[in-house]
Amino acid sequence: MKSLSVLITLWVAAPSYAHPHLHWAPPGPGDVRGPCPMLNSLANHNYLPHNGKNFDVAITKKALSDALNIDEELGQFLFEQAVTTNPTPNATVWSLANLARHNVLEHDASFSRQDAYFGSPVKFNATIFAETQSYWHGPVINTTMAAKARVARIRTSNATNPEFGLSQTGVTFSLGEAAAYLMFLGERVNLTAPKNVVEYLFENERLPTKLGWKRPEPAVGFPDLQEAMARLFNETDPDIQILVRRGMHG
Ligand code: HEM
Ligand SMILES: *[C@@H]1O[C@H](CO)[C@@H](O)[C@H](O)[C@H]1NC(C)=O
Ligand SMILES: *[C@@H]1O[C@H](CO)[C@@H](O)[C@H](O)[C@H]1NC(C)=O
Ligand SMILES: *[C@@H]1O[C@H](CO)[C@@H](O)[C@H](O)[C@H]1NC(C)=O
Ligand SMILES: *[C@@H]1O[C@H](CO)[C@@H](O)[C@H](O)[C@H]1NC(C)=O
Ligand SMILES: *[C@@H]1O[C@H](CO)[C@@H](O)[C@H](O)[C@H]1NC(C)=O
Ligand SMILES: *[C@@H]1O[C@H](CO)[C@@H](O)[C@H](O)[C@H]1NC(C)=O
Repeated sequence: MKSLSVLITLWVAAPSYAHPHLHWAPPGPGDVRGPCPMLNSLANHNYLPHNGKNFDVAITKKALSDALNIDEELGQFLFEQAVTTNPTPNATVWSLANLARHNVLEHDASFSRQDAYFGSPVKFNATIFAETQSYWHGPVINTTMAAKARVARIRTSNATNPEFGLSQTGVTFSLGEAAAYLMFLGERVNLTAPKNVVEYLFENERLPTKLGWKRPEPAVGFPDLQEAMARLFNETDPDIQILVRRGMHG
């Protein structure tokens, strides 16, 4: 009886490894994760190695292509950004934990993480995320809502964190992250995303397949990301468009 249930479990589980979007497991002992909800999700699904470590250019590009249909050029660009977070000189690999290094790519005023001044920015923080969510009115998030939510998080961090700062890289990444959740989780023409799909990814670090989400088609390239960022920027309060560098050292 026991061996039969083991056999059934294996039989049911085995095919899911051939389709990483079906397989999902949270990080276990020794696995590392970082401040990016999407990359954490890809590791939880085994698109990226589940331990969260030692991603070279080939692993990075294949995961981004297989899971999200990110093209060669954008995949290369994202890898080149990611590898800057590895403190080892001339590194050719990076890990999800490297991404948490403050003010390399990781920055203040995240949508779902506390500022590094208050503690680790790696874990999802429901209080921080509630402020972001409060700007997502109705079942569909559009560029106006995403821009307002981002501005609100910047204002709150500026008002509460004595070491608040956003570098040019930080503020550009923040804009890119807002563009990314609309573009990769929603549809690209109107730049909108279903709120429940976006919340599911942030809260569970799991691809929202069961809510009807599908891998984007056609492939997503660097110009697509830039265009989405420009549309969001256009919806952003003018006084936030030019950002203070308070708290930045260098
Ligand atoms: C190799 C590719 C990627 C790298 C290196 C990367 C890196 C990062 C880093 C360092 C952060 C933390 C920024 C912060 O302090 O808030 C972050 C956040 C984020 N990333 Fe990624 N990311 C990648 C791909 C993606 C993709 C494909 C998506 C698509 C949805 C995505 C969506 C997000 C979002 C929405 C956040 C904001 C989280 C928050 O503010 O709470 N990322 N990413
Ligand atoms: C890193 O690369 C540079 C330029 O190729 C080289 O001069 C330097 O010695 C390398 N450093 C290490 C630690 O390998
Ligand atoms: C979430 O962030 C807030 C604001 O920084 C902080 O007070 C709270 O302790 C954080 N919660 C967790 C569980 O880290
Ligand atoms: C987003 O939706 C809100 C509320 O329905 C609306 O006021 C706003 O004009 C919309 N923005 C865009 C860019 O369509
Ligand atoms: C940040 O706060 C300072 C006052 O502490 C204010 O002068 C500045 O305009 C604020 N910047 C943003 C972007 O909110
Ligand atoms: C974009 O929005 C318009 C107006 O709401 C709608 O008619 C159209 O179907 C949407 N396009 C896509 C691709 O969802
Ligand atoms: C910029 O936003 C305004 C509304 O705030 C809109 O009318 C205009 O079409 C947008 N321009 C671009 C280039 O997206």
